[in-house]
Amino acid sequence: MGVLANFVVNVLPYITLVVFVVGVVYRIAVWWSRPSPAPIPVFPGQRSVGDAVVRVLADVLLFRSLFRFSGNRILWLGSWLFHISFGLILLRHLRYFLGAEAVPGWVNALQGIGVAAAVVISVPLLYLLLRRIVHADIKWISTPADYFVLLLILSVVLSGLYAKFFAKPFVVDVKYVIRSLMAFQPVDLDKVYLSTSFLVHFFLVQVLFMYIPFSKVMHFGGVFFSPTRTHYFGGESHTKSQEEV
Ligand code: HEM
Repeated sequence: MGVLANFVVNVLPYITLVVFVVGVVYRIAVWWSRPSPAPIPVFPGQRSVGDAVVRVLADVLLFRSLFRFSGNRILWLGSWLFHISFGLILLRHLRYFLGAEAVPGWVNALQGIGVAAAVVISVPLLYLLLRRIVHADIKWISTPADYFVLLLILSVVLSGLYAKFFAKPFVVDVKYVIRSLMAFQPVDLDKVYLSTSFLVHFFLVQVLFMYIPFSKVMHFGGVFFSPTRTHYFGGESHTKSQEEV
């Protein structure tokens, strides 16, 4: 195999890892150290640490704020389906990373739903893309970065689906590649069968991960530092619940 394949398999993954880890840690460190002296939860506000934790978890797991305030339930469903599917796809991929002897049972149990999620995710992805193209007001506030990240994720998904259903790479060799990389052992590409579609998929995945620290995808960390969610008014000060007003 060529120099390019060798770069994608043996060199780029380490560059990706460094860019991703340093980038994410840096972004979180900046949020962590930014002073935020005054409590600014959104009315009616959280009243205790427990309330703030519940608020953040409800936003992270159920996209509560999108459900309550946007008035657009299709957007809520599309976003939620997209994120859940993405998570399930990542969990399915753990079979390449975990288990020297055999894939752990719980990862095995998630394989079927992981494939279903891979098919399903294309729908919300296309919806999230199309709404930026079709709705004039959303198009007006969309930047090239908004389109780029959606197209990048879509290309990762489509290359993965192509690999799974058409090119069918030898997944035992894929696991061998990943486990070798984890052990810092270079892979001899003449000894493995990796289809071109896998190499394209693997390359796009790495571009995505290197891009994440510089992109809006960092909202997966930012949500935990959002003052309107994490701040709370202690005791009876500042705010009353709607029933009390
Ligand atoms: C180290 C990272 C990754 C590796 C080594 C990898 C490898 C693969 C391989 C070998 C397949 C084909 C599976 C088969 O033939 O049964 C596949 C499929 C797929 N990949 Fe990835 N992938 C990676 C990361 C990702 C990421 C981050 C996504 C995010 C969306 C993704 C999305 C998909 C999808 C949607 C499929 C098709 C369904 C499936 O077989 O799971 N992959 N991937």
